[in-house]
Amino acid sequence: MSKNLNIVIAGLGTVGTASIKLIEKNKDIFSIKSNLNIKILGIFAKNKSKSRSFKKNRYKWYDDPFKMIDQYNVDTVVELIGGEKGVAKDICYYALKKKKNLITANKALLAHEGYNMAKIAEENKVKIGFEASVAGGIPIISTLKRSFKGIKINKITGILNGTSNFILSNMLDEKNEFKTSLKKAQKLGYAEQKPENDLNGLDTLHKILILSGIAFNKQIDLKKVAFSGIKNLTKADIFFADRLGYRIKPLGIGCFEKSKLRLIVAPFLISKKKELANVNNNLNAIIINANKNNKNILIGEGAGGDPTSISVVSDLINLHSNDENEFMYGSSHKKLKKINPSNFFLNNNSFFIRAKIYDKPGAIAAISTILKNFSISIKSLFQEQTNKKLFNIVILTHKCKKKSMDSATTKLNTCHFLKEKAVIMQVLHV
Ligand SMILES: NC(=O)c1ccc[n+]([C@@H]2O[C@H](COP(=O)([O-])OP(=O)(O)OC[C@H]3O[C@@H](n4cnc5c(N)ncnc54)[C@H](OP(=O)(O)O)[C@@H]3O)[C@@H](O)[C@H]2O)c1
Repeated sequence: MSKNLNIVIAGLGTVGTASIKLIEKNKDIFSIKSNLNIKILGIFAKNKSKSRSFKKNRYKWYDDPFKMIDQYNVDTVVELIGGEKGVAKDICYYALKKKKNLITANKALLAHEGYNMAKIAEENKVKIGFEASVAGGIPIISTLKRSFKGIKINKITGILNGTSNFILSNMLDEKNEFKTSLKKAQKLGYAEQKPENDLNGLDTLHKILILSGIAFNKQIDLKKVAFSGIKNLTKADIFFADRLGYRIKPLGIGCFEKSKLRLIVAPFLISKKKELANVNNNLNAIIINANKNNKNILIGEGAGGDPTSISVVSDLINLHSNDENEFMYGSSHKKLKKINPSNFFLNNNSFFIRAKIYDKPGAIAAISTILKNFSISIKSLFQEQTNKKLFNIVILTHKCKKKSMDSATTKLNTCHFLKEKAVIMQVLHV
């Protein structure tokens, strides 16, 4: 006979609703494959009277989420509200302290509180499942925790934000400006109405921080990491990169080398021949470089109710069928050493520079001189007139030090002939 797994669900939006539907649909599969019978003992969200696309009256509604969790036979609390503060945070901590297993998709909360949550879970001998927090339906957390348990991971490189990836792909495919592609993403449900955290890189930062915590067994302070997103990129950048043989991709990179953890969140140029350059639209992808030369790539749907609900349900099953002593980050919180990440690659890198300049004699020579003064050599340079008075100057550099590029950029941005700050992006060499 199947064993009952009693859960409660807080949050009935995109992911919550899809998870309930999947639990209803897959009853037989749970029973056959895992010998489990998942029972939903309570649901909670903000608005009781809101119409939902599942049969609400099948489940007991709670106005008070803490009462819902307090039911003596609740085994696992599923938090699908979101946000690093407020009721979602309170529910997660309450569940752990009441010795209930927790499943959450809340990357913002995990990026801020993950280490402390791991500590409290261990103290209370319960487990946390968070597969749904990174890359939707791609099983990246369990891959890192289980499949790479005894393997040294060198680097993780990910396209982790489907909204940004969709916008950049659409700008290229349909020759749209940023705003038009953003509107299209919102219309298709790939971008929220308030997409700020997706576009400025913060969402990617949360995710690469969670993955790096597991991959490198470190406690990483979120506030120490600089990040940038795609919100200042234009159609011109996409097409200049294309002309040079590259795609622009929003990346999160975590690598551990020579005792230093490097976390980088920024749009990068990637050669069109490389795998990540061809991961388009709302797809996510993650490359795991391990054991020096081993390379694995996972690609899949990074967001949306249906893919993300697969991760929620797989956590439900895995938490109950796996090792009793499984830790949140793969090892005990006591073994996660604090580390200050740096935002630079150790090795030299080449850069893409686009500067919009007024048509003044000597401007290009002045830019070349600035680069030369910082020992940066130019691999290719071209210019394109945007109107009677303005030009775009596009430069691809040879490999140089990030420090030199930072100094050159500061100098470049003071030039009187510059219309606006220059766009600078790194080229990914993978
Ligand atoms: N959407 C995705 O593709 C995706 C992918 C991966 C991870 N995630 C993560 O999954 C979580 C949920 O995302 P979602 O897209 O499903 O969000 P959503 O559609 O906006 O749903 C949020 C749910 O939380 C409830 N809620 C919001 N504020 C509340 C409050 N103060 N008190 C009680 N309930 C409250 C809402 O109640 P009402 O329904 O009554 O308004 C709604 O049911 C987030 O952590 C998100 O980062 C989402």
